[in-house]
Amino acid sequence: MANEFKVTPWTVTGNVDYEKLTKEFGTEPLTDEILNRIKRHTKELHVLLRRKVFFSHRDMKWLLDEYEKGNKFFLYTGRGPSGPVHIGHLIPWIFTRWLQEKFDAELWFQFTDDEKFLFRKKDEVGIGEYTKIAYENALDVIALGFNPKKTHFLIDSLPETAGMMYKEAIRIADKITASTAKAAFGFDDSYSIGQFFYTAMQAVPAILPSALKGVNIPCLIPLGVDQDPHFRVARDVYTKLGFYKPALIHAKFMAGLLADGKMSASIPNSTIYTTDSPKEVEEKIKKHAFSGGRTSLEEHRKYGGNPDIDVCYQWLYNFFEPDDKKLAKIYDDYKSGKMLTSELKDYTIAKINAFLKEHQKKREKAKSQIEKFLFKA
Ligand code: TYM
Repeated sequence: MANEFKVTPWTVTGNVDYEKLTKEFGTEPLTDEILNRIKRHTKELHVLLRRKVFFSHRDMKWLLDEYEKGNKFFLYTGRGPSGPVHIGHLIPWIFTRWLQEKFDAELWFQFTDDEKFLFRKKDEVGIGEYTKIAYENALDVIALGFNPKKTHFLIDSLPETAGMMYKEAIRIADKITASTAKAAFGFDDSYSIGQFFYTAMQAVPAILPSALKGVNIPCLIPLGVDQDPHFRVARDVYTKLGFYKPALIHAKFMAGLLADGKMSASIPNSTIYTTDSPKEVEEKIKKHAFSGGRTSLEEHRKYGGNPDIDVCYQWLYNFFEPDDKKLAKIYDDYKSGKMLTSELKDYTIAKINAFLKEHQKKREKAKSQIEKFLFKA
């Protein structure tokens, strides 16, 4: 049977074939040529670039051309505050922080409490619940080390943000037909008009600094590839309104603990949250992490394991073991049967818990910093 997968901003299912997705979405592969151009400015490549976790883009060549002409860009990314943040969400944000530092760029970060209200599954929850979650999630973003002087948080439903964004959102919404939204997102007539409108809100921050300053500024959006369709729909609209199209750089998904699919907050057993205790991380990984090991110790020693399908190995590869030599040794030892599944799991648990220990400390500190990050007109 053909490998069926689906990627929309609200649903990711199946085993994603990223090459096929690049063609389907009409994006471009992130080639070595572009990586080398980035490296010329940053001196080194972030592990997420080296390992091709970021794998695809739109208009990166244009963005770099502009940068090399002295036309600096700003960064834009975001979070839909539906619940606690998991370690998969951190992937685009960690990379964004690195870009902020290397390119000395401003960042606009959008928290879409309106989106989560409009796409919620339970009727009884009011928008204020999602606004509260946005403040909680903001702590995780701050904990990653963004520069408060150059970072602006937008929480969509807050009056100041909403008032500022609405003028641009209606101009964008005016140019997107219902049939375009249906084709891009798979909506049908049962979707609310709020859901149809929402894309306009996510499109706004890519032009907001340009609109506020009255001068066009290039924009780069690092994001998980599931969020690409919003910007695909908005691309032509930006130019119709006299703005640049933003450049995009897309990440693959960090796998969930289970055999299939991305880490997703709606499947708790698939997920390590940033607030999990060391014990919880240990238990989840020991109990649920899909392994490429053999069924018995004898078989594992004799035939070896399969790192390519092992979730712990994937996480080390993605981000948690940046040392290429150590990673290669783990790969070889696991494949040959010298390293056991329990050893690979223990190694990964230690890496993730060390990361989370630091993250949680910074997250606590962030509680007194949040005001510095909220955008004020
Ligand atoms: P949200 O909250 O679903 O996800 C936040 C960011 O995390 C990415 N992501 C992942 N990346 C790697 N591995 C995973 N398992 C994983 N799961 C999620 C998402 O692609 C996203 O980049 N509508 C958006 C919020 C938003 C936004 C934006 C995102 C508003 N403006 C601009 C990107 C760019 C949302 O609900 O993201």
